[in-house]
Amino acid sequence: MNSFVYDVPTKVYFGENQLGHLGEELSRFGKRVLLTYGGGSIKKIGLYDKVIHEIQKAGLEVFELSGIEPNPRIDSVRRGAQICKDKQIDVLLAVGGGSTLDATKWMSAAACVDHDAWDFFNATWAPVEKALPVVTILTLAATGSEMNAGGVISNPETQDKIGRVARPILPRVSFLDPTNTYTVSPFQTACGAVDMMSHIFEIYFTMDRDIYMLDTFMEGMLKTVIKYAPIAMKDPQNYEARANLMWTSSWALNTFVNGGKQHDWSCHPMEHELSAIYDITHGLGLAILTPRWMEYCLDETTAPKFVQWATSVWDIDPSLPAMEIARQGIDRLSHFFFDTLGLQSTFTEIGIKKEDFPVMARKACGNGSINGLKPLNQQDIEKIFEMCL
Ligand code: NZQ
Ligand code: ZN
Repeated sequence: MNSFVYDVPTKVYFGENQLGHLGEELSRFGKRVLLTYGGGSIKKIGLYDKVIHEIQKAGLEVFELSGIEPNPRIDSVRRGAQICKDKQIDVLLAVGGGSTLDATKWMSAAACVDHDAWDFFNATWAPVEKALPVVTILTLAATGSEMNAGGVISNPETQDKIGRVARPILPRVSFLDPTNTYTVSPFQTACGAVDMMSHIFEIYFTMDRDIYMLDTFMEGMLKTVIKYAPIAMKDPQNYEARANLMWTSSWALNTFVNGGKQHDWSCHPMEHELSAIYDITHGLGLAILTPRWMEYCLDETTAPKFVQWATSVWDIDPSLPAMEIARQGIDRLSHFFFDTLGLQSTFTEIGIKKEDFPVMARKACGNGSINGLKPLNQQDIEKIFEMCL
């Protein structure tokens, strides 16, 4: 077991009827609040009015930025940072899914510098030394953004979608009320489920030493998603299902499961290139890629890890030959994504074209290789893309 530091000080209010604490939490950081949200779902679900009520009750002054897009764009970050500077904002309140949270987290950093916000993501890779405090109210269980220091931003001009982790942007407080996810569509619920599973796979399927305690924790979270995502899709107001998904999304990507394991992520860099060009939903791209990536990486060396996963998560008969167990596990995953969750299963169905494979593959591995479960260079990634057609 490698040595590591675990230090995630986000304060979480989990469950119903916690919004009464919003005013006191925001007040810790100052008087002037920038409320950020997406395309309007928070108004449809009545959350906007409740949030405004709590802010006003606490005697705070509120400014707003709406229209943050799924796969949030650098222009939204720029707009938010400018408001923070013009209005001398003390604290940002992000209400929405991962896109709203990510954009807001990067606004909080961009508000503290004079350079352009994209300099955090381009070759400049400007340092992130400080950020304004961010509070979040999550409305979609998927990314873990509510409890991690990452954020992924798109730049349509350069066709880049780039994620970066920076400690100053970690949310200080997050409100996780499962009832706020009751209105998430079956499609977005499915994509969120795939996303959190993929976050677990990215750590679970690496060749570094495993930690038994963390592996069993991850297997438990995978089983949780497999059990509750279909229930949430069929019965959107099932509190138990929504609560289990929400807390899993946070713990899948708050660095707890890393446990000091050396790992490169594999499916995420590939997927971000799909979203960068085609603006598809992140979880959908991951669903199409993941079983193909697993098939591509399966060999005599990696088979034991697949056997562990397939027997513990999918209850595949452990007396079968290792390769057979691994293949059955991958088949069960495909069945779960494409039949149970009903997601599209090929690039062809969602309009992703072969002509873009070389550039997407090159950018995914940064001209070198992704060193996850198996090293993947540009040619490997192009082959995985071809398996997705
Ligand atoms: O914009 P609104 O109107 O709010 O609608 C959103 C959006 O259309 C809607 N929605 C959200 N909550 C809802 C709701 N609709 C009805 N009821 C609700 N309660 O859902 C749509 C998708 O929202 P979005 O925020 O884009 O989804 P998600 O949470 O999946 O976030 C995806 C983004 O996060 C990035 C992805 O790449 C993508 O850009 N990621 C961020 C990570 C991180 N910060 O750690 C890690 C992930 O791997 C991921 O890359
Ligand atoms: Zn993800």
